[in-house]
Amino acid sequence: MSTASSQPRTVARVIPALNTSDGAGVRLRRSLGSGESTRLDPFLMLDEFSSVNPGDYIAGFPSHPHRGFETVTYILDGHMRHEDHLGNQGDLKSGGVQWMTAGRGIIHSEMPQQEEGRMRGFQLWINLPAKEKMKPAGYKDILPEEIPVKILNDGVSIKVIAGSLDYDSEITQGPIAGLTTDPLYLDVQLPAGASVTIPISRGHNSMAYLFEGTLGIADHATMFPTHSGMVLTDGDHATFVAGVSAARFLLLAGRPLNEPIVQYGPFVMNTVAEIEQAIMDYQAGRLTSV
Ligand code: CO
Repeated sequence: MSTASSQPRTVARVIPALNTSDGAGVRLRRSLGSGESTRLDPFLMLDEFSSVNPGDYIAGFPSHPHRGFETVTYILDGHMRHEDHLGNQGDLKSGGVQWMTAGRGIIHSEMPQQEEGRMRGFQLWINLPAKEKMKPAGYKDILPEEIPVKILNDGVSIKVIAGSLDYDSEITQGPIAGLTTDPLYLDVQLPAGASVTIPISRGHNSMAYLFEGTLGIADHATMFPTHSGMVLTDGDHATFVAGVSAARFLLLAGRPLNEPIVQYGPFVMNTVAEIEQAIMDYQAGRLTSV
């Protein structure tokens, strides 16, 4: 952080999370993806679900298709079961992540495996470049113990779900790497009043999504409220400061694709013709055939 060219990121805009529901009636908060103007290339959508009321989540996400992007589900509290047309079955428990590449097509269900208690987590949609949208579907379950956690002296902790964290000349590598969009996906916990400076690749789009406490970015002058996404300006690092209580946020960054986006529900392609093809393929039962 000492080079003359080092440029801090600040907040370019705030995207509040809006209450909505999806699947068979799961209540959630949507920041990215609540409209076309709230995408952040390569990120298409970010949903937070959090409830102790089973009526808000019990119906889950019965069988549905995707084409053209990746979905990342991160469970903080609870137990979900995933099944897809490839025969994959996964149990997603507290602290675990499921990274699914829809590619050409996947048909899957995501159903709660609990009838009471707290269900809390996130689903992030990451776009695929045109040349990868029709690749075969892929799927990876990441167990909680496979996600490295960097603990700093003052009680700051950073989970590295995707990409790598370069801190104090030590690199912490997350379990997901090598993607065209080069995503960084961190879960950062700050004790009350604590701060941390995190390197973020210059030129990559980045957003912090705050889900506990209040958070200052670059300074204490503005404290942003819980359940909001703060899109950052360009630069090579950002400094985060917790307010009077502990703060917890996701830090996302990725290489923008700069390609046209045409979305129709669970299909995200580059052209209207490709979307029409996806709908025809799904209706004809060939969405997923290679
Ligand atoms: Co899905």
